[in-house]
Amino acid sequence: MYSIKVLTISLSFSLLMSCEQELGNTNSEVGAIGQNAMITSAHPLATKVGLDILRKGGNAYDATVAVQFALAVVFQRAGNIGGGGFLVLREKDGKTAALDFREKAPKQASRDMYLDENGEVIPMKSRFGHQAAGVPGAVAGMWELHQQYGVLDWNVLIQPAVELAFYGFTLTNDAANQLNLKQEDFIKANRETPWTVNAAGWQLGDTVKLPELAATLSFIRDMGRDGFYKGIVADQIVKEMNRGGGLISVEDLEDYQPKWREPVTGSYRGYKIISMSPPSSGGVALIQLLQGAEQYDFGKSGHNTSEGIHLMTELARRVYADRATYLGDPDFYDVPVDMLLSSAYNKERFSTIQLGQKTLSNEIKEGEVDIIESVETTHFSIVDANGNAASLTTTLNAYFGCKVLVRGAGFFLNNEMDDFSAKSGVPNMFGLLGAEANAIVPEKRMLSSMTPTILEKDNELFMVTGTPGGATIITSVFQSILNVVDHGMSMQEAVNAKRVHHQWLPDRILVEEGGLSQKVADQLKALGHEVEYRSSWGKIDAILVRPDGSYEGAADYLRCDDYAEGF
Ligand code: GLY
Repeated sequence: MYSIKVLTISLSFSLLMSCEQELGNTNSEVGAIGQNAMITSAHPLATKVGLDILRKGGNAYDATVAVQFALAVVFQRAGNIGGGGFLVLREKDGKTAALDFREKAPKQASRDMYLDENGEVIPMKSRFGHQAAGVPGAVAGMWELHQQYGVLDWNVLIQPAVELAFYGFTLTNDAANQLNLKQEDFIKANRETPWTVNAAGWQLGDTVKLPELAATLSFIRDMGRDGFYKGIVADQIVKEMNRGGGLISVEDLEDYQPKWREPVTGSYRGYKIISMSPPSSGGVALIQLLQGAEQYDFGKSGHNTSEGIHLMTELARRVYADRATYLGDPDFYDVPVDMLLSSAYNKERFSTIQLGQKTLSNEIKEGEVDIIESVETTHFSIVDANGNAASLTTTLNAYFGCKVLVRGAGFFLNNEMDDFSAKSGVPNMFGLLGAEANAIVPEKRMLSSMTPTILEKDNELFMVTGTPGGATIITSVFQSILNVVDHGMSMQEAVNAKRVHHQWLPDRILVEEGGLSQKVADQLKALGHEVEYRSSWGKIDAILVRPDGSYEGAADYLRCDDYAEGF
């Protein structure tokens, strides 16, 4: 049997504090300032783990590994070892790279696996339970990052997560609420009641100790990627699959490999945009949006005016239609990235936009969709004292993924298979459509919207940005850039600002509550738009380089527990 080795490296006492005591950055105009380094993530404890690593002499990529594993403990609904993600990095000398550690379809997956005998999609089969899980990529991705870029020992980076899991941490209000919301799902998805089920209901300040997860993390700490993809943990995953009819096999786990990709690049008003390439649609779509936006004076239109929102909507309508048709895993489908990013293509693509009238989405391309359901995932941004930058978005897809907690191993599996197009013309949980490019094929990666992004100005680092939010990720990252570049906001103001979203279909503009004056809403309706209000979405965690070279870390603390700190 295994033993849990903890406390080989001391963890500062502050890491065990309640999150509520840590939500310190309440300045609504300027975020946290760091003269040398900055981290902003979904959870104060994860940010502090990363800062500890930087202070020990680790670089941004060491801190990235440590934050990813810490989030897998303290932010279990989206932080993960059972999911995957994307990283865009820029080294201090300007070299860039993109790491794809997206999940893959299991070898036994098949194109019509979520259809019934009449060829109709079986509701929830791609979203809930064992068959919804893709082969996890997170641990292999972090191992690969460390092999190529790390300076501290691997075990030093994983140890804080082991200790957080073993000694426990306290729940924030939001974490308790999210657990309470999913109680029935946890019971339904697991044969044995998992720790997440609490008949009395979770509350702010409850202490959570996760010895099984601590054991899993200690295998990873001691054996690297093999501690997850081989041996006891791999056996536990496969046994869990067998319990619920899931498809992930021993071979799937052993064969999983992350991939280095060339980031996609573009420019916007003199800023260089470096973002994630396929199999995420995020970077391509973001650069298309920015190419379109450059043809208009958004600064003059003003923030969240009817003209600005109308133009963003018309751009997004066209870009998301392209996404549905052309984007998928480039290892399986010839994604026309060059065409989609060419200025000639985009000039033509956006040429039908009219200032005084909306375009009908079904004139762009036909499709039937229902509503966006959820806006989950998590993002963090890091800059170290040498100016190395990391922008990482990672996910289980829905909060707590497919809701299956691997028995004995203590972590949730993703439900990323829902990001494939189960059937052409039928939307996934984000209301996104797909086609051949994103059809299910064994070992293929499902299309993503994750958009970890870095901006340069005059060949120097300028911004690190990204957010969770499913389909809304692309438009939220787009607005974080427009808010700074066109509207002159600080990074914190750009993060705080109310967002809007359009994604071609459904043909309506989503607006965060309180985001529009009645006058602007009326003007949008007069242009033919339907406006629908939602409470909030996305959690941008971004860093801006200030004119004096210091860093402004902006955490989305108004929408959740996100926390920025620098030194
Ligand atoms: N699972 C959400 C995304 O990858 O976009």
